[in-house]
Amino acid sequence: MKRNVVLVGFMGSGKTTIGRKLAEQLDYRFVDTDRIIEERAGGPISQLFEERGEASFRELESDVVAELADETGLVIASGGGTVLDDDNVELLKRQGFLVYLRTDSSVIYGRVKDSRKRPLLNVPDPLLEIERLLQSRVKTYEKVADLTVDTGANTVGKVIESIRESLAKLKRSGDDVSD
Ligand code: S3P
Repeated sequence: MKRNVVLVGFMGSGKTTIGRKLAEQLDYRFVDTDRIIEERAGGPISQLFEERGEASFRELESDVVAELADETGLVIASGGGTVLDDDNVELLKRQGFLVYLRTDSSVIYGRVKDSRKRPLLNVPDPLLEIERLLQSRVKTYEKVADLTVDTGANTVGKVIESIRESLAKLKRSGDDVSD
């Protein structure tokens, strides 16, 4: 039976870019929890944070996770904070192989500094905030992950290759993630 591949990691770690391509190659459906939330909220996440607060966003995020948890054949790009919630992790692990895309703060900063899409980084010193948040989250990302892949120095192609190699190994060992 097809299961899911769930990409986890900090903002700007490449979950969407890698997820889309991986889904294409595996012939899985790509879903991005942030995009589903935006569709439901009827506007961008930054607006949702501003008008209804982070707690509201987190509730919507957990609803989306619960709905996706029992589907199969998905590559799911989670939000950077999704796996900080234990219930979300439990749900995602039901069908999912969790891949942490590890990226360091300077690379993240380079990728997100010109974007206005991330309300948590809309602060006077975004680099410092990235370092602070990353430090507080990194243990969780590592703990929940079935596989960790470095994205900083690797090309998108290499990252995908590593993920696919692990999936193939799982398949050979019988703990299957694909058909
Ligand atoms: C968040 C990451 C964002 C989005 C929201 C909160 C976080 O997703 O879910 O702004 O807590 O790290 P991306 O990781 O896709 O940017």
